[in-house]
Amino acid sequence: LSLFEDAPRLDLSHCLYISRYSGVVGQTGLRSLLQQARENNQRLGITGGLVFDGERFVQWLEGPGDAIDRLIVSLRHDDRHHDFVLLSEGPLAARRYRRWASGYAEPDSVDHFEQCVQADPSPETVWTGFRTLFSAADVE
Ligand SMILES: Cc1cc2nc3c(=O)[nH]c(=O)nc-3n(C[C@H](O)[C@H](O)[C@H](O)COP(=O)(O)O)c2cc1C
Repeated sequence: LSLFEDAPRLDLSHCLYISRYSGVVGQTGLRSLLQQARENNQRLGITGGLVFDGERFVQWLEGPGDAIDRLIVSLRHDDRHHDFVLLSEGPLAARRYRRWASGYAEPDSVDHFEQCVQADPSPETVWTGFRTLFSAADVE
């Protein structure tokens, strides 16, 4: 029994990946992808952020472990993007982006984005680049 059935679960996981847009959905397709992602994420207690430059994605996700694990499987099989590279996943002590069910930003710094999507980037490099992009850009 718990007085706080709705309280967010304490087991918290994250994932960070980069991928390449398949170009099979147009601008409206992208809008509805984001809409669907936000609805799912809200329901599942997932927060995070997505950066897209028209070609490549960088996404950070955080939430209950099983929800993150399932989402990684879905993402791997989603043919709207390819070259999926999972850079980091696992337990997380505290959320970094609790404000956004899936924040979305277009990079206003080409340099920081390039840092994220260069060939064989290290997880640290991508995480640093993502954080910089996400604090500098207009996030909606
Ligand atoms: C770049 C990209 C980012 C995505 N981000 C999310 C997300 O944050 N949350 C989400 O539920 N689905 C996201 N999706 C969609 C998932 O891949 C998947 O279609 C959705 O979770 C439904 O999965 P299901 O059909 O296996 O239930 C994203 C897809 C792409 C291509």
